Amino acid sequence: MKRKDILGIKDLSKSEVNEILTAANVMRERLDARERGNELAGKSVATLFYENSTRTRNSFDLAAKNLGASVMGIAVAASSVQKGETLVDTGKTLDALKTDAIIIRHPVAGSARLLAETIKASVINAGDGMNEHPSQALLDALTATRHFGELIDKKLVIVGDIRHSRVARSNIALFGMLGASVTVCGPYTLIPDGIAGLGCEVDCDLDGALDGANIVMPLRIQFERMSGAYFPSREEYHEYYGITQKRLRLCADDYIVMHPGPINREAEIAGDVADGAHSLIEEQVTNGVAVRMAMLKLLLDGGNER
Ligand code: CP
Repeated sequence: MKRKDILGIKDLSKSEVNEILTAANVMRERLDARERGNELAGKSVATLFYENSTRTRNSFDLAAKNLGASVMGIAVAASSVQKGETLVDTGKTLDALKTDAIIIRHPVAGSARLLAETIKASVINAGDGMNEHPSQALLDALTATRHFGELIDKKLVIVGDIRHSRVARSNIALFGMLGASVTVCGPYTLIPDGIAGLGCEVDCDLDGALDGANIVMPLRIQFERMSGAYFPSREEYHEYYGITQKRLRLCADDYIVMHPGPINREAEIAGDVADGAHSLIEEQVTNGVAVRMAMLKLLLDGGNER
């Protein structure tokens, strides 16, 4: 892969996406066979997370180790960030430590790009504010393509807090690129102006949106990004926008349910849906390691022009 960084789906060409998904399928077979590799021996990867994470941080960590790289987890709360060091100066320090790739999560949109433009190491955006979360979208696409074969004419419905969701923005771009139709659904207070311009339909009526859906993706309500109330109560939200077994009867026969996690049971998703036969939530987590192995290998072992 002839690029230094992966900052967003919007930057990737279809052939680059296909290259990542093809490599991720190979990595998934290696994971299932419990095979570790050494392709990235001698390389150093840093995880720099200014926001909490379970899945993304640990799967990048595991992915790098599965390829033989060394991993440096920067504990932001215990780092010199707390003494006022800027993001760029932290990045320059990691460059001086001969870090080959930095995986960054930051609450501010554009921070991954700022870092990438300032330092020599490769940068992978692990979520920047409400902008993009490319590795999440790639693992979602891997999960859906492994289930359906291809996504042409499949209907993806993303339900919930679209306004604050970087996952929604990355998935609208990626699933559209792969030929799926994308509908976003939620209370109109949580649907941002202009979202249709990214290439999706908008439908605030959940039953209408779910009609014929192949892929249903509820999203967590991101209370940490809200400064006011966007709906009256969690109970009312669940009644109108919670994904339940009853509502899923409106979907196509062979539908799947995916959720980026963390899930809030009985809020955006009923517990028996999360644990049900159509749920691929745990499969997404495993595919997350495979996709991140593919991203790291293609960036660091693919002859990129650093
Ligand atoms: N989906 C996701 O980004 O999960 P984490 O916040 O646990 O990394």
